[in-house]
Amino acid sequence: MTEVRFKREALKGDGALPTHVAIIMDGNGRWAAKRGLPRSIGHRKGVDAVRRTVRAAIDLGIPYLTLYSFSSENWSRPAEEIDDLMGLMKRFIRRDLAELHQAGVKIRVIGERANVEPELMTLIEEACELTQNNQALTLIIAFNYGARAEIAKAARTLAEAVAAGRMRPDEITANAISSVLDTAGIPDPDLLVRTSGEMRVSNFLLWQIAYTEFVFLDAYWPEFGRELLEEAIARFRERERRFGGRSDRSTA
Ligand code: IPE
Ligand code: IPE
Ligand code: MG
Repeated sequence: MTEVRFKREALKGDGALPTHVAIIMDGNGRWAAKRGLPRSIGHRKGVDAVRRTVRAAIDLGIPYLTLYSFSSENWSRPAEEIDDLMGLMKRFIRRDLAELHQAGVKIRVIGERANVEPELMTLIEEACELTQNNQALTLIIAFNYGARAEIAKAARTLAEAVAAGRMRPDEITANAISSVLDTAGIPDPDLLVRTSGEMRVSNFLLWQIAYTEFVFLDAYWPEFGRELLEEAIARFRERERRFGGRSDRSTA
């Protein structure tokens, strides 16, 4: 039971707590524009919000936290902005890895490894390897990630197994697909949070969010931290999850 790891006293109210919180960190550019600042400053402040959020997740005892940091579609942005984002990712790993490791954070990265510059790839691999046995919080960074590509890759993996005679077509079940996604072994998100007021999924975890509860917040990502994470969790706890079954509260 992962839930008992939750520091219940840290959160007000009742209702089940999420085991896995996934976040679409959106609105860095608009946060900066509102202040007449360049987008790069918005992204930099966004990294501070990542730090606050990871710390809060550890404090609250959330077992899994997934952060959408760069989508496969974000390559369509101007080269200068892409450079800023890659630079911030490198700096984040270099500066924060020791502290994250100390705090018992296990880092996993999901997404395409191709196209990522070798220097950054090496940093990512080192971070995952160093922290692989940690148990306080699993931090999943969705980097160069797109759900459709992830599902297509899973389909290829299974097709190759069938072609090689290692698997029969009727063994391709939903569980078999889950087991070859980048997120293999990670429970599906209970709660998906998106900041900045946008209400869309933008190619994030399409397979895994079949029964996830969504919370959309108007705040821009650089404003995010413990307080808004707690607010999202409080809203989640008011939801009734039915998973296609019948309501416990219904009288009929
Ligand atoms: C989120 O902020 C960061 C990434 C998508 C990498 P944006 O850069 O999307 O900011 P907005 O949505 O333009 O305000
Ligand atoms: C989603 O935000 C991707 C990340 C947060 C990394 P975008 O800003 O790229 O999404 P759209 O383009 O508004 O859908
Ligand atoms: Mg955006």
